[in-house]
Order: sequence, then C-alpha cells, then structure tokens
Amino acid sequence: MKITSAEFVTSATGLDKCPAGSRPEVALAGRSNVGKSSLLNNLVSRRRLARTSNTPGRTQLINFFSINDMFYLVDLPGYGFAKVPVRVKARWGKMIEDYLARREQLRGLILLVDVRHKPTADDQQMYHWLSTYHIPTLVVATKADKLSRGRAIQNLAMIRKNLQLPASAPLILFSAVTGQGKEEIWAVIQNWVEN
Ligand code: GTP
Ligand code: MG
Repeated sequence: MKITSAEFVTSATGLDKCPAGSRPEVALAGRSNVGKSSLLNNLVSRRRLARTSNTPGRTQLINFFSINDMFYLVDLPGYGFAKVPVRVKARWGKMIEDYLARREQLRGLILLVDVRHKPTADDQQMYHWLSTYHIPTLVVATKADKLSRGRAIQNLAMIRKNLQLPASAPLILFSAVTGQGKEEIWAVIQNWVEN
C-alpha cells in the first residue's frame, strides 16, 4: 500500500472517547513490550510516530493514527505487564475489552507475539477471545531479526500449535528492524479496510 499520510489523531481513555464516524480501523494488540508500536512505525515508515520504549507499559491509552485520511491504525496498551498495579491493570483490561467487543468500525486485529517465545496464557486467552467474538485476526510473530531463519520457521510451527491456529489462519513472520513481512501485513490490512 502506498502511504501518502500518517498522522496521530487522538489518545482515547475509553470507547466513548474514540473518534466518531464510520472510517474502518485495524488495531494492534499483544503483550507489553512485544513491539506493537514499533510495528506501526515500520508499517508507515516513520521512526517515531508511535512512542516505543524499552520499558513495558509505554502505551497506556487507545491511540489512533489516521492513514491516508482513509482508515485508522489503532495502537492498544499491552497486556500481561506484571509491574502495573492491579487497579490499573483492571482499568486497561476493561478499556481494551470494551473496545474489542463493541467498536463497530473495527475490521480486524493484528495480534503480536514474540517469535522467540512460547505464547503466554494471556496470548492464548486473547486469541481464543477474538475467535469467540469473530474478530478477523492476523497473528504476527515479531522480532524475527533476533533468530536465525531456520529457528524462526521452527518457532512459527510451535506458535501455530500453541495458539491452536487453524491451518487457514494467517501467521506472518516480521521484524521491525529489517522490515521483513511488512508487505504481507499490508496486504491483509488493505483487504480488511477496503472490503
Ligand atoms: P507497550 O506499549 O509497552 O505495550 O510496548 P509495545 O508492544 O508497543 O513495544 P515497543 O514497540 O515499544 O517495543 C518494545 C521494545 O522492543 C523496544 O525496545 C523496541 O525497539 C524493541 N523491538 C520492537 N520490535 C522489534 C523487532 O522487530 N526487533 C528487535 N530487535 N527489537 C524490536
Ligand atoms: Mg506501545
């Protein structure tokens, strides 16, 4: 997809604060620090559009980025970050769940997992929940640059098995460092927002 514009629009504290209108949107979810914001930046070839950090828990609100004045990419806070106080965790959980269950403009969700590791119980729960709600999901295994090609391919099979992805479900290997997998991800997003 040719990107003509990518702009930050707003940080929403909840579903009621999300932009009005009928523009389609695609959201990014995954564990804290897995690389959601980095993937977003890589997709639009902007190093610092979404804030990234070594510290998990960087993204705390629902961040909307307008792409080509046509659709939104939505950067969600990560889950599974142990150091967040229980009360805050509950608030984020409710915010994400409300958004996923009730946001009509949501056309698809990109679920990121770290290609180096077995998906966590939170990842499994999230994937299961998305299928229950019939939200079209693309699983992306990121940080591919941290493994050899052979090892990464092996781990893809492990991830597919662990999340119980159907054979037909897409699973893309990605790296925000090399840009590997970017075009494949765009093809899926394009299909979601244009249909
Ligand atoms: P939260 O907002 O806290 O949920 O994190 P996030 O999922 O948005 O992660 P973020 O994009 O901030 O990245 C976390 C760390 O991982 C940063 O130090 C990134 O530079 C690094 N990182 C992200 N993607 C990649 C990748 O593909 N390869 C490598 N080597 N590092 C990555
Ligand atoms: Mg982030």
